[in-house]
Amino acid sequence: MRMETTVSGMQHRARRWKREGTKIGFVPTMGSLHAGHLGLVERARKAIGRNGRIVVSIYVNPAQFGPREDLARYPRNLARDRALCREADVDLLFVPDDAGMYPRLAGREFSTWITEERLSRGMEGRSRPGHFRGVTTVVGKLFNIVQPDVAVFGAKDFQQARIIQRMARDLNFPVRLIVAPTAREEDGLAMSSRNENLSPEERRQAAILIQAIRHARGRVRAGRGWVTAGRLREEVLEMIGQRPAARVDYVEFFAPDTLEPVTRVKPGTRMALAVFVGRTRLIDNGQL
Ligand code: PAJ
Repeated sequence: MRMETTVSGMQHRARRWKREGTKIGFVPTMGSLHAGHLGLVERARKAIGRNGRIVVSIYVNPAQFGPREDLARYPRNLARDRALCREADVDLLFVPDDAGMYPRLAGREFSTWITEERLSRGMEGRSRPGHFRGVTTVVGKLFNIVQPDVAVFGAKDFQQARIIQRMARDLNFPVRLIVAPTAREEDGLAMSSRNENLSPEERRQAAILIQAIRHARGRVRAGRGWVTAGRLREEVLEMIGQRPAARVDYVEFFAPDTLEPVTRVKPGTRMALAVFVGRTRLIDNGQL
């Protein structure tokens, strides 16, 4: 497995593969890899074939963290990530540094951003102002650096995946996007690098996110047609309120294509929630 740490080195390598006619599959990550990330790698391999090349990037992108967020606490395990990628048959690991990605830190100014202006308004966008501007900008940069034919994202970050699809469509990035299902622990907790920051007791209580989704799904499927979002939100808040370590940031019911909130929740409506468990903010979502 190769490793590139510079933007020019990665671009050079990608151009060479392109010249040879080799297809590139890409999985962007912030590292601290888990089985969810590795599932995306497998999905990319399936899409690109044996003769293609799989690139995984590891970059904890400061531009998508707010000033009071957990950038400093974000878990980092490069040695372990390298070993996992090697085992997963990744061809190239791209690990740029801040000076390479945002040259302002190297004395040059960085002043160009990609902002998606509709799907970014609610949920994560409302709770984390500037977050999606950081995500779309870094993913746009990574697409230009890695030049993938296919890129794979996880449904775990459903709003993010939708926004990146919109960006690629609106700005004509020549890449095919795949959204892969959420990988979960045995108790249903969505795998996340941030789970590493939970204490054992918090880890136990963190299962409340998927329990809330399952409760809502059960209510919608048992109902005749629909349930009001207000009613369902109250039930879910009440459930989560019984976990002392948990504090709800938001619970939303929305149409999967537009991400617009709905008042009547029906089969096919999507639910997303963000919950602090202790100091750790977790998100999850699912189709009802
Ligand atoms: P990160 O949180 O490391 O996630 C990288 C990719 O893995 C994302 O597409 C995310 O949706 C996916 N993923 C995470 N947990 C998953 C799970 N349990 N099941 C399936 N897929 C999962 O998302 C980011 O990094 C960043 O915002 C990034 C896109 C890399 C831009 O900086």
